[in-house]
Amino acid sequence: MVKYLIKDIADGVKLLRLDDDRTRYFEAAWHIPEGVTYNSYLIESSEGQMLIDTWKGQYSELFMKAIKEITDISKIKYVIINHAEPDHTGSLPVLLREAKDAKVVVNVAGIKLLKAKYDIKNEIVSIEGTKEVKLLGEDFIFIHVPWVHWPETMLSYQKRTKILYTCDVFGSFSIPSSYRADPRDSFYLKSAEKYLITVMGYYRKYVLNAIEKVKSMNLEILKIAPSHGGIWDRNVEEPMQLFEKWAKGEPEKNKVTIAYVSMYGSVEEAVSRVYNELASKDINVKTFAINDSDYPDFEDFLTEINSSSVVLLATPTYDTSVHPRMKALLELIKDKFRGVSKPFVVMVSYGWGSNAIKYMENSLKDAGLEAILMETFREKISDEQVKKITSVIKDKIKT
Ligand code: FEO
Repeated sequence: MVKYLIKDIADGVKLLRLDDDRTRYFEAAWHIPEGVTYNSYLIESSEGQMLIDTWKGQYSELFMKAIKEITDISKIKYVIINHAEPDHTGSLPVLLREAKDAKVVVNVAGIKLLKAKYDIKNEIVSIEGTKEVKLLGEDFIFIHVPWVHWPETMLSYQKRTKILYTCDVFGSFSIPSSYRADPRDSFYLKSAEKYLITVMGYYRKYVLNAIEKVKSMNLEILKIAPSHGGIWDRNVEEPMQLFEKWAKGEPEKNKVTIAYVSMYGSVEEAVSRVYNELASKDINVKTFAINDSDYPDFEDFLTEINSSSVVLLATPTYDTSVHPRMKALLELIKDKFRGVSKPFVVMVSYGWGSNAIKYMENSLKDAGLEAILMETFREKISDEQVKKITSVIKDKIKT
């Protein structure tokens, strides 16, 4: 059920959270059975009120209803847009139709897009770079952090409350039962890593830049308030460290992930032999099988490989090249793991002949990824190949 939550998170700051369990494919790409939230923040000062971010457009009516429960729309003097993507700005045009005098605060890079998309007539306050601005008696630092996730993205630091509003960064999929992010909740952490890798994996180096920039400013931060998921308010060092680790793709100990396609069983048999060898050495192996009965979610696979020491990809030959499902997976790996230090092992089976190994090699090379071993076999993998593959993987594993 789609519902909303309104919660005081600091003196004069209210969270307005929409719990969206209707969207099944975020950005029409990422399967999210766990749902997602859109967080907006209402800041009340003695001189008036302002909003940070809004909700996805299809929830505009609910957004207006939620705001009207807690304030009079005419009191809203500013709408700060940290990021122009429609999951955060979709409700803006409906809001501005009633909040006619509200000024829209946005990074200079976002103005053309916002105007083109929503035909905004309200006055716009343009923010260039990183800048201190007083709005209605509240001191903000707007920090331009390009490409987390679009070129206009900025973070807003509210000096009085020491809250850093971060939009996509430090956000997560899922609908947590609490408005607070729980760093001990492994499902929540996995959902946050999934958000980072799928939605923002292409821009991971910019996420690292953004974290570095925030650290270099030596701000006293009490809360990190993203526009998806929970608010980090226990120890803000924790999300900083987690997102830094995830953006770097740092491996967990002793972890290998295998993704394979098997049409008639020969790849599956080869993979199961490697799997058994690795598992017998107490290595934690996750497998994702694409076969005639199962198509696992690629987003889960991408999230798992982010924290793996070694990734094994196995495919049959198809149309003289790589199986189409493996091609699709490789395209995602190229986009989301470009330049990440992550060793790959490749296994290719063939019946008649194959260019598949070349395709795999070139794809990984294009993405700046390292293929530490590539093995081909005709229908059946040999004992020597199984030994070689397991020994190479074992040598590369972080223990
Ligand atoms: Fe949550 Fe890039 O939008």
